Amino acid sequence: MTIKKSILSALVAVGLALCGSQAEAEGEVTDFRFSFEGPFGAFDQAQLQRGLQVYTEVCAACHGLKYVPYRSLSEPGGPSLPEPQMRAYAAQFQVTDPATGETGPAQPTDHFGESNLDNAPDLSLMAKARAGFHGPYGTGLNQLFRGMGGPEYIASFLLGYTGEMEEQAGSVLFENTAFGGLVAMPPALTDGQVTYADGVEATTEQMALDVAAFLMWTAEPKMMARKHAGLTAVLFLILLAVLLYFTNKKLWSRVKGKGETAH
Ligand code: HEC
Repeated sequence: MTIKKSILSALVAVGLALCGSQAEAEGEVTDFRFSFEGPFGAFDQAQLQRGLQVYTEVCAACHGLKYVPYRSLSEPGGPSLPEPQMRAYAAQFQVTDPATGETGPAQPTDHFGESNLDNAPDLSLMAKARAGFHGPYGTGLNQLFRGMGGPEYIASFLLGYTGEMEEQAGSVLFENTAFGGLVAMPPALTDGQVTYADGVEATTEQMALDVAAFLMWTAEPKMMARKHAGLTAVLFLILLAVLLYFTNKKLWSRVKGKGETAH
């Protein structure tokens, strides 16, 4: 076998492994398409606003977002609520100042609350704490191409209830295919549970995708800035490479004497 051939077959093997790795994850995670995937991807502002609504009306009953300040809701690249709307959103919650003990409406600099339920984890960083993809063969190589699959995991988790439940030590547990077993969180979403202001139909899947996208944003609010910086750097390096190529050609042209006859 020639070297070329063996390189080719190695590449094919890696390719096949990449395609086939989905089945290996412990739970079943669907590879949903999100607007923010890939080097040119960006958060969909309307989707983040819908996700905020789902979080507020459904998930916040149990889960906190304690690392997220209200003011970030109106920063560019995120849900980008207009400033007065963000202030009004914050003001519906009461916070107690630990120094003075006074309770009043939350200010933009305050953070979302902590979880109301002891065993419900904080969701601020959940999209980065869970990985939907591990392949091939658990190497994590896939994540280079498809991302960690955190939001895919969250959406699959919300949609993964089979309807089976079991009582264990006095508490009810629910079977969930993405979780890969029994989980203490009851199914949270049902069709039409929220009414979206933008007229999008609130199917269970739509709400799951919207809140998953929103939680990706809370976990990585500067993702857009990071992608832009990366892209600018790559474009700059390409330009530099082209310029260096021509500089090199010009500098050596007389020595190499292409097309000239020997002196
Ligand atoms: C009734 C309370 C309740 C509601 C409402 C609720 N959750 Fe949960 N959630 C829990 C509890 C409790 C757990 C911990 C489950 C466990 O570890 O067994 C949990 C766990 C999770 C996890 C982590 C799963 C894992 O892999 O460990 C995610 C993600 C999650 N919830 C997202 C959401 C989202 C998004 C919503 C809103 C659509 C929501 N939850 C609504 C109670 C709730």
